[in-house]
Amino acid sequence: MQFNLVTKDAASKARAGAITTDHGTIETPIFMPVGTVATVKGVHQRELEQDINPDIILGNTYHLYLRPQTEILEKAGGLHKFMNWDRNILTDSGGYQVYSLSANRKIKEEGVKFKSHIDGSFHMFTPERVMEIQRSIGADIIMAFDECTPYPCDYNYAKRSMHMTHRWLDRCIDHLAKTPVKYGYDQAFFPIVQGSTYKDLRKQSAEYIANSGAVGNAIGGLSVGEPAEEMYAMTEIVTDILPEDKPRYLMGVGTPINILENIALGVDMFDCVMPTRNGRNGTLFTQHGTINIKNKKWEDDFSPLDPDGTTWVDTAYSKAYVRHLFSVNEILGRQIGTIHNLGFYMWLVREARKHIIAGDFYTWKEKMVKQMDKRL
Ligand code: GUN
Repeated sequence: MQFNLVTKDAASKARAGAITTDHGTIETPIFMPVGTVATVKGVHQRELEQDINPDIILGNTYHLYLRPQTEILEKAGGLHKFMNWDRNILTDSGGYQVYSLSANRKIKEEGVKFKSHIDGSFHMFTPERVMEIQRSIGADIIMAFDECTPYPCDYNYAKRSMHMTHRWLDRCIDHLAKTPVKYGYDQAFFPIVQGSTYKDLRKQSAEYIANSGAVGNAIGGLSVGEPAEEMYAMTEIVTDILPEDKPRYLMGVGTPINILENIALGVDMFDCVMPTRNGRNGTLFTQHGTINIKNKKWEDDFSPLDPDGTTWVDTAYSKAYVRHLFSVNEILGRQIGTIHNLGFYMWLVREARKHIIAGDFYTWKEKMVKQMDKRL
């Protein structure tokens, strides 16, 4: 994997760059649509490629390990072939899902023992096992196994957990070196900064992660319920320490406003279920604010779903029609909502990139943050 820093913004810490892997180039800042179980829910690969057009999507180790299981993915020749997606994929390590989804999890130095949320069966994730599973899945970027602490989190717990995440990182790195790739192309490994909402822990963790010498770095444990200002403060401490010549990925963030604010703090990569999940329940993001398309006020509004939108659905369908689809619970409504929201998120990060390169990112960002902070 290679990262080229193209432009640094003068008025903020925003950067424009390009990551190149064996599955192509990813222009940053980037938003990665979430495809948890080998599908971006409700979107065909053709719509994804042609309409939404991301350079990279995300998959989840926890879900793919449970279903379809690594054996099937190996027989398919890896996740790219299995789901017919030949651009980039990043897999999260399960360091979030194992805590948020599984029942009866027990965290020990060795790893995490957990009960599947699907059938109640017991499993064990260790840093070593998670590296092996991510080799079998075959994503282009793979993540360290970490503990994502909840919010709020007691200082002593956060400190112990952070040190364990650091020891797990060393085990991930050791084991990865002994575990060859399965499909002939390179897999880039990203470690994850933790430390909850404590400045000294964030600083210590960022230093540890920066020293690990990885080709890219991630920030975890944020957007877990803390106020946005606290998230931004933590991001800034960390981006000030992480190496400038490597991409920075803020995991699980966030709203369109959160994304712009974190780009301004030097983050290059984002993922979040928000555009897909909210799209499926009728919450649509636009440049001018957030729409609840299920609202009665759209009943006879025959104007385009989003006249400024970049995807086919934005002008092909009216607000009244999409509202109708939601009110009769038709699957097409959820598909349209998802495509619209993903198209909007992609537009937002591409615009951010253009403005960083043009040199007016900061003023554009301030205008957009005000403009998007409305309920329509
Ligand atoms: N997704 C969102 N936050 C996190 C985190 O802290 N760790 C991991 N592994 N994934 C995440």
